[in-house]
Amino acid sequence: MSYKLLFVCLGNICRSPSAENIMNHLIKESSLDSHIICDSAGTSAYHIGSAPDRRMSAAAQKRGLELVGKARKFRALDFEKFDLILAMDRSNYQDILYLDQVGKYQDKVQMMCSFARTYRDREVPDPYYGGQDGFNYVIDLLFDCCSGLLDYVVKEKL
Ligand code: 4NP
Repeated sequence: MSYKLLFVCLGNICRSPSAENIMNHLIKESSLDSHIICDSAGTSAYHIGSAPDRRMSAAAQKRGLELVGKARKFRALDFEKFDLILAMDRSNYQDILYLDQVGKYQDKVQMMCSFARTYRDREVPDPYYGGQDGFNYVIDLLFDCCSGLLDYVVKEKL
């Protein structure tokens, strides 16, 4: 049995696909491919079917990473399918839990930044309406969060 992670943001074209691809990169480096599975989704339907934003891909490329994926919308079924759901910001967190009115899956939903070790951010900032620096920052922050998250999964969940 593998441990299943789902990364969630608003559009599923910037932050959550970056988190998914960075996490897959770290998982491969640790030869844990068959033990941890990653996916990502957006709380909105704005960009369903779209590839990652090219500004986000450019930022990832600078760190030697190619972003692959196609946007999809988060759905209630994901609560059952995944072991841990990582929200990029507070509004993503609330939008996810809105689909869980009785609080059955509340413990499965965590803030991505709770796994950060070097960075002090409480949320992964939405880079969509800003400049390229914001996209670069998101990649660096997510590398930090993903490495903390990988340590947590390896120590507590495998
Ligand atoms: P993401 O970024 O949630 O990190 O994928 C955004 C993508 C699209 C929009 C906002 C944020 N939008 O408003 O279309």
